[in-house]
Amino acid sequence: MEGRLQLFTGNANPRLAQAIASILETPLGRAEVGAFSDSETRVRLEENVRGSDVFVIQPLCAPVNQHIMELLIMLDAVRRASAARITAVIPYYAYARQEKKTAGREPISAKLLANLLTTAGADRILTVDLHAPAIEGFFDIPVDHLRATPILAAHARRLGLERLVVVSPDTGAVARAEEFRRRVGGGLAIISKQRPSPEMAEMHEMVGEVEGRDVIIVDDIIASGGTLLKAIELLQARGVRHIFAAAIHGVFSGDALRRIAESPIERVFVTDTIPLPDNGPVDKIEVLTVAPLLAEAIMRIHKDLSISALFT
Ligand code: R5P
Repeated sequence: MEGRLQLFTGNANPRLAQAIASILETPLGRAEVGAFSDSETRVRLEENVRGSDVFVIQPLCAPVNQHIMELLIMLDAVRRASAARITAVIPYYAYARQEKKTAGREPISAKLLANLLTTAGADRILTVDLHAPAIEGFFDIPVDHLRATPILAAHARRLGLERLVVVSPDTGAVARAEEFRRRVGGGLAIISKQRPSPEMAEMHEMVGEVEGRDVIIVDDIIASGGTLLKAIELLQARGVRHIFAAAIHGVFSGDALRRIAESPIERVFVTDTIPLPDNGPVDKIEVLTVAPLLAEAIMRIHKDLSISALFT
């Protein structure tokens, strides 16, 4: 790509954006991203972007709707300022768990968000571990979908756990758990999860031998922590030794951090796709960075190089 590389960020995760900018040795573009007195989002780019290859970095974490609006309005500003190409870098894609109708008269919010991003001006999307990979198909523009499981797995391998079993807390997480297991070794156990309501998880059945073993529960998202805590309960009842967890996106909504702190889990590994909330204890949480992965992907997109090597 001929135009110069420019990076911008909204307010969702400035630390991650700064880390990416440092690796790329490209300063973050100056932009005012704030609010008018009536709370409407206000954006003004303070740099020329004409003819540039612009990357706008913004994970869609809480407050989700505000961060979505910031991103949409930034994309609009960059497009109207005549950038040559615009990539929305979305380390955490929100509304991804609303990717299909589970009952009549429900929306498909993940698709609506895809439409909004494209309408606002995104020419490409760069994202990390979509909750449902099929969301890629909601876009008619290129989507580069990175996976952070290797980062979590490499860290877990360094713990040197013996007689390890990797646990998938529901059937939807089996592929990720299996990939994790392939990288760290050990066995695999799969829990059957039911959701009587969106905020409630129930677990009674599990396939796999875990008694006397160290276990790592692997998931894509920890939100309310309901899934994780129910899995811990079941695993304890089955006589496991030490319990760890690894998840890509540490949403930790509500009082998840406190409930995790009070649980018998040893440690929880997440990435920095989104910042840790500051409303609870984080002693058991260990954050691994995806900044080098995203920086490498941005550089390769900018130079029109293949990034499939980063998908493995
Ligand atoms: C569900 O399908 C996801 O993979 C996660 O298990 C879920 O989103 C976690 O949410 P919570 O922490 O609220 O149970």
